Amino acid sequence: MDRSNAPTDLADAFDRAARRYDLLTGMNPGYHRHLDAAARRLADRLGTEPGLLLDLGCGSGSSTVALLRRLHPARLVGIDASAGMLAQARAKSWPDGVEFRQLPAERLGELDLPPADGAMAAYLLRNLDAADRDAALAGILAALRPGGRLVIQEYSVAGHRVAGLVWTLVCWLVVIPLSWLVRGSPGLYRYLWRSVQDFDSTATLRDRLHRAGFAEIEQFPVTGWQRGILHTVLARRPERAG
Ligand SMILES: C[S@@+](CC[C@H](N)C(=O)[O-])C[C@H]1O[C@@H](n2cnc3c(N)ncnc32)[C@H](O)[C@@H]1O
Repeated sequence: MDRSNAPTDLADAFDRAARRYDLLTGMNPGYHRHLDAAARRLADRLGTEPGLLLDLGCGSGSSTVALLRRLHPARLVGIDASAGMLAQARAKSWPDGVEFRQLPAERLGELDLPPADGAMAAYLLRNLDAADRDAALAGILAALRPGGRLVIQEYSVAGHRVAGLVWTLVCWLVVIPLSWLVRGSPGLYRYLWRSVQDFDSTATLRDRLHRAGFAEIEQFPVTGWQRGILHTVLARRPERAG
């Protein structure tokens, strides 16, 4: 899969993988715990009762569930490019105020939404090419109210040989074989392996956030075998433009 064709090509791949997506993430030890930890960090900074929250690249809704466990927003909008993933999300039961929209995250500005208090982008940015990554971050900054917060959850191994090696071993010995076994679109999981290898270092990601206009950029490790591979990054839209 060539990422230069994203998001259409990638959205198709997620469409095909959607039915088995929750099954495979459920086999990933720590997947839901790490999403919960990221949502908790957002709640710590934002308070638990924000007005509007955005879940960018919400997929089948796992990150949405994590947000709703820690925060009680008046409104939550999940946004994803894949109709198939959104169908999985919409099939679940949600409290009032939760809705899902199909749109590439880098076109967030096309949605007519009031300023958001917070946003999560879990396992999203790696799927965008560098220019779209910058466009998405600029769009997220513009969608947040001054003082609003973004939490990013993403794999990054660039510049860390051991982390890159562990990532490769886990993907080729566990993740990709499991995706074959459950007929869960192995092509998407080969792409997962490669996209993480190709993704920004955490320093580059923090730099992107800074260039987009975010401040108070903080990075946290996760626990378990994914330590050094999976990262939580928090950032704030400044009260005043710098
Ligand atoms: C790895 S899944 C993560 C889903 C969810 N956030 C979670 O934590 O389980 C990545 C999601 O990003 C979506 N995605 C990829 N590129 C996108 C884009 N440019 N705009 C919006 N969504 C995108 C995919 O369709 C997929 O549902």
